[in-house]
Amino acid sequence: MTRILHACLVISIVTNAWANDQQAKPPKGIAIAKQGTPDLDGKIDDHWKACPKYAVTQPIAESLKIEQKDMATATVQLLWDDKHLYALWIVKDSPLSAESSDDWAQDSVELFLDQHQDKSVTYESDDAQYRVNFQGKISGQGTGYDEADIKAAAIKTKQGYIVEMAIRTHAADMKPGTTMGLELQVNDDHGSGQRDAIAKWLHTEDDSWQDTSKFGTVQLK
Ligand code: BGC
Repeated sequence: MTRILHACLVISIVTNAWANDQQAKPPKGIAIAKQGTPDLDGKIDDHWKACPKYAVTQPIAESLKIEQKDMATATVQLLWDDKHLYALWIVKDSPLSAESSDDWAQDSVELFLDQHQDKSVTYESDDAQYRVNFQGKISGQGTGYDEADIKAAAIKTKQGYIVEMAIRTHAADMKPGTTMGLELQVNDDHGSGQRDAIAKWLHTEDDSWQDTSKFGTVQLK
C-alpha cells in the first residue's frame, strides 16, 4: 500500500512538473516578457528570477568560421514596463574582443524589434536594431533607430559577459497581450579581429538587420 501511494506521488510530481513546464515554455518563436522594471546595472536582480530564458544558439551557416562548439551563445530574459522593453543577456564567450572597426563584428549582442509587428521586408519607422558590445558600447541601425532610445550596462563574467538593455518603445502599445516582432543575435570575434560566428534565437540567415518578416514574437504578459 505504501509503495502504491509512493508510486502515485511520484507520478503526480512528474505530471505536475510537466504541466508547469508546458506553461513555462510557449511554442518556439514566441517569447514572453513579464512586467517589471529592473535596475540597469548588469546585476541580476529579483525582477529577472521568474522570467523564462530563451537560447540564442542557432548558428548562421554562411558566417560560421570556427567550430560550432566554440561559438559565443547566450540566454536571454525579457521584461517590460509602460515605456520599455528590457533584455538580460547572459553570454558565454571567450576570448573577448572589440578589435574590429565594424560594431557588428565585435563581441556583442543585438536585439531586433518590429514594434507594430507588421513583418515588413524592409525597415520602417517602428523597426530598429539595437546593439551592445561586451564593454557596454551602444550602436544600432534601422529606420526606427534613435540612440536616445537605448540604455545598457555590461559586465564581464568568468564565462563571458552580461548585458542588460533598456529599449524605450515609441510605437507599441505597452500593455498585457501586446505582441511585437523580435529577433536576438550574438556576434563573436573568436580571435581573428573579424566576426567568426553569429548565433541567433530563431532565423538561420544574416538578414534580420534589413528584413523583419522572419522575426519571432515577444508577447507582453
Ligand atoms: C549583421 C551584419 C550587418 C549589420 C548592419 C548585423 O546584425 O549581422 O551583417 O552588416 O547588422 O547593422
